[in-house]
Amino acid sequence: MTIWDVTVDLAVVGTGVAGLTAALRAAELGLRVVAVTKTTVEDGNTRCAQGGIAVVWPGPPPGDSVDAHVADTLVAGAGLCDETAVRTILAAGPAAVSELKMHGAVFDGGWADVHRTREGGHRAYRVIHAGGDATGAEIERTLAGAARSRQLMLLEGQSVSEVLRDDTGRVAGLALLDELGAGVLGARAVLLATGGLGQLYAASTNADVATGDGLALALRAGALTADLEFVQFHPTALYLGTGSRGRQPLVTEAIRGEGAVLLDIDGAPVMTGVHPLGGLAPRDVVAGAITRRMAATGTDHVLLDATHLGSAELRRRFPTVHAACASVGVDPGCEPIPVAPAAHYQCGGVVTDTSGRTTVPGLYAAGEVARTGLHGANRLASNSLLEGLVMGRRAAEAVAADFTVSRCPGPPLPSHEPRPVADRDALQQSMSAHAGIGRDSAGLAAASAVAGATTRRRIRTPHDAEDAGLTLAAAAVLAAAAARTESRGCHLRTDHPRSAERWRRSIAVVLDDDGTPVLAEPVLIGGVA
Ligand code: SIN
Repeated sequence: MTIWDVTVDLAVVGTGVAGLTAALRAAELGLRVVAVTKTTVEDGNTRCAQGGIAVVWPGPPPGDSVDAHVADTLVAGAGLCDETAVRTILAAGPAAVSELKMHGAVFDGGWADVHRTREGGHRAYRVIHAGGDATGAEIERTLAGAARSRQLMLLEGQSVSEVLRDDTGRVAGLALLDELGAGVLGARAVLLATGGLGQLYAASTNADVATGDGLALALRAGALTADLEFVQFHPTALYLGTGSRGRQPLVTEAIRGEGAVLLDIDGAPVMTGVHPLGGLAPRDVVAGAITRRMAATGTDHVLLDATHLGSAELRRRFPTVHAACASVGVDPGCEPIPVAPAAHYQCGGVVTDTSGRTTVPGLYAAGEVARTGLHGANRLASNSLLEGLVMGRRAAEAVAADFTVSRCPGPPLPSHEPRPVADRDALQQSMSAHAGIGRDSAGLAAASAVAGATTRRRIRTPHDAEDAGLTLAAAAVLAAAAARTESRGCHLRTDHPRSAERWRRSIAVVLDDDGTPVLAEPVLIGGVA
């Protein structure tokens, strides 16, 4: 086992928007920081984000405001957002985007006259974008470039198998794993910025790395998690054929923002009469309407008609979508794009305050893995890149503020306990069948049985670590989904189709002494439930 001969002040796990923003800020604050990733710095999920960053940008056209952005976020969140967190995070948006620009990010339209578009649930044009539909790629390019040019300490190709804690329960380091063996890195603080859990499902818009690692690490470290049942499905992933598995190319909502229309397989509009905002209703509403229409027409996809834009404009404004369509022989300028909902975003996660502190001393979380209270039961489109920028920075500042130069005796050795591991393929199939859009108690019980059909395995490879993480993440999501006997936001129950006032609260999940996810009372940390 390699034991690194160094104890860092902060180990950041994950190198997407939140992780790299945090690592860069921590280095600026003089902390000794290392960013750890199981693949390469550029290979995260951030690069897949298309639409943009939702931010109230000063300057013309007038009419938008942080209050209006807050109102849209609260509506999309279906009663479960924490308004204080929403306001704090959204108000910090312009400064966070300016910071990104200082690192070299280039947005469409330039700075003074930045282009703004709309996405689902936004009543104003406030989504800024880069490279047409390549906003995540531009953010990743910018932050990875800054990290490399500032010679930030980067540990690539290292999976984290455990957050190590000392005998007082405080974070003391990380257990690492690569194809060659295990290692231990001492760290006074750990920030989880590992993204989401799209790979829990058979079809997802997420990169292969999105395997719920951070959620599993936090649960095992004793952290409180909440809102796990709210897994957002993007309404329009490119349809690749019946039963298509793995990563599905995204067809950004911004295309609907530019006037594209959802039609069913017979050519009838999907969103007419469903919601006042039509095709730009919040994402849970659109994904639910598509799912119902697919069932009614006996198909597994619908159509997105963007032909009014024409091929040349689509290639210019949406080059990523255009290329994905072309790769499957679709010319979106001449014919409608076949689309279907796919797992996209984990709205809940590790409970943090608005500075990224979790319930475990020395453990912080930011970005998709965290539950700040911004998203509630359904994330407003393009609020996530903004949250990653704001919360990455804040978490680094919280680590610096909390920092005590106490003697650090070095981390304990990893536990090496075997962990329950379910079959990944069966897990993904059953989560898609029973824990997607339209759940019921029998289906959730069936999925729980698959997640519970485990063998105990020593974690020897990064793939083992992912499998164990997926198994635990599935069990935690299913526990929360089974408990919430109502429909709200992304959690649509066919056996409980309405919202119930008594469920207007978060469900929290922790691990019991046997390592099983159980429901807990949400606790207040730093004023955030
Ligand atoms: C999209 O471009 O439609 C995705 C943006 C998001 O998930 O917020």
